[in-house]
Amino acid sequence: MSVRVGIIGQGYVASTLALGLARIRSSEIGLSGVPLQNFLKSYRAEDVEVVCSLDVDYAKVGRTLGEVVKMYYPEARSYPSLDSVTVSKGIHLGSTENLPIKAVGLEEELGLEEAIYAIVDAWERCGVDVLVNLITTEYTEPVESLHHVRRLIREGSKLPATYAYLYAATVYAETVKPVAFVNAIPATVARSRAFVKAFEERRSVVLGDDGASGATPLTSDLLEHLAERNRIPRGVVQFNIGGNLDFLALLDESRNKAKERTKSSVVADVLGFEVPSYIKPTGFSEYLGDKKFVSMHIEYVGFNGAVDEIVVNARINDSPALAGLLVDLVRLAKIALDRGFSGTIYEVNAFYMKSPGPEGSKSISRIVAYQILIDWLLRIGELTRIPRYSVHNFIPELRKAYGLE
Ligand SMILES: NC(=O)c1ccc[n+]([C@@H]2O[C@H](COP(=O)([O-])OP(=O)(O)OC[C@H]3O[C@@H](n4cnc5c(N)ncnc54)[C@H](O)[C@@H]3O)[C@@H](O)[C@H]2O)c1
Repeated sequence: MSVRVGIIGQGYVASTLALGLARIRSSEIGLSGVPLQNFLKSYRAEDVEVVCSLDVDYAKVGRTLGEVVKMYYPEARSYPSLDSVTVSKGIHLGSTENLPIKAVGLEEELGLEEAIYAIVDAWERCGVDVLVNLITTEYTEPVESLHHVRRLIREGSKLPATYAYLYAATVYAETVKPVAFVNAIPATVARSRAFVKAFEERRSVVLGDDGASGATPLTSDLLEHLAERNRIPRGVVQFNIGGNLDFLALLDESRNKAKERTKSSVVADVLGFEVPSYIKPTGFSEYLGDKKFVSMHIEYVGFNGAVDEIVVNARINDSPALAGLLVDLVRLAKIALDRGFSGTIYEVNAFYMKSPGPEGSKSISRIVAYQILIDWLLRIGELTRIPRYSVHNFIPELRKAYGLE
């Protein structure tokens, strides 16, 4: 049994994921950067297959995954699993506006409604189980209902490409089989009551929003560390400068707003009160490439009024950080489908996403979220072993409760 993945947006992250999976399957690399390694009963990392891919970049459409991967990793060798998948034309709807991309959209030839049905057909031919949204960061306004999205499509009104893909996923779920949609970008999807309800009604699963891969989860863990010791933060600053296309896209005000929204909720959510904070991607500098520069400053008050400061500087490879998490997310999404879950799953989102769905959920520290995730996996009987860092290893009553003694 495999997890059949359909990519939407074959950029840096998606290409890193495809290459990493091919290398894992050929035993060329291990599972570093994959949190759940091979601890899941149903699927190993080797069982994940990218079976189809959509993009709108003229330079990628019609090329094989292997060719696109080489645009990012020229040193990569050929893998039959990458050479057998061709990148197909997606729905554009202006999502790459102002970027140095010559974009093509299926809606230009077919009209939007027909384009959506053509994409559903393509997914059916590949037998997709899990869709992963990795398109350029989009700003999205919440929608009232799926019906509202359908109306926008029929009327030819403006809507974000992500919403057109979500709509296509619901059509797929109705006409082909239940599906999972992993939203790794800052668009409002798993936090949207309308989309969660639509997926729930179709026995399908939606996870999101915005993969938590870089500095934001580290900030939330440092805040938790201070909060547990009653050290009171007075201000938080965290910024990133990167040299990949995603950072270039984030120079756009509305895209940056979308990212800021998913990042900045973390401070009040973890601490329980507001603190002056500045958390957002701040710049693009091409020489940094995919290895972004992250800087963080937290000032806090300790015992006897002492004022301390934490300063962190890091260089982090942006795309592998998210791609490693996706190896888990696609398996968890498929497991959720297999086990009859529908709607969204906070226990999964809280660990992997910056802004976890459903609507109104708190973004908690990853240290706590990890325990919640492991507990959920134990409850559904999905773990082959208890990971070293799980509290279940240290509390005999918990082990007994799960029959682990
Ligand atoms: N660590 C990370 O890199 C990280 C973390 C969290 C979230 N994300 C999100 O993941 C997404 C992808 O990041 P990336 O670094 O791979 O970006 P990228 O710019 O390299 O890739 C985006 C790809 O999507 C394609 N695309 C754009 N609009 C499309 C559409 N309408 N249909 C199909 N394809 C479309 C582009 O042509 C490009 O190939 C971004 O939205 C980013 O915010 C990335």
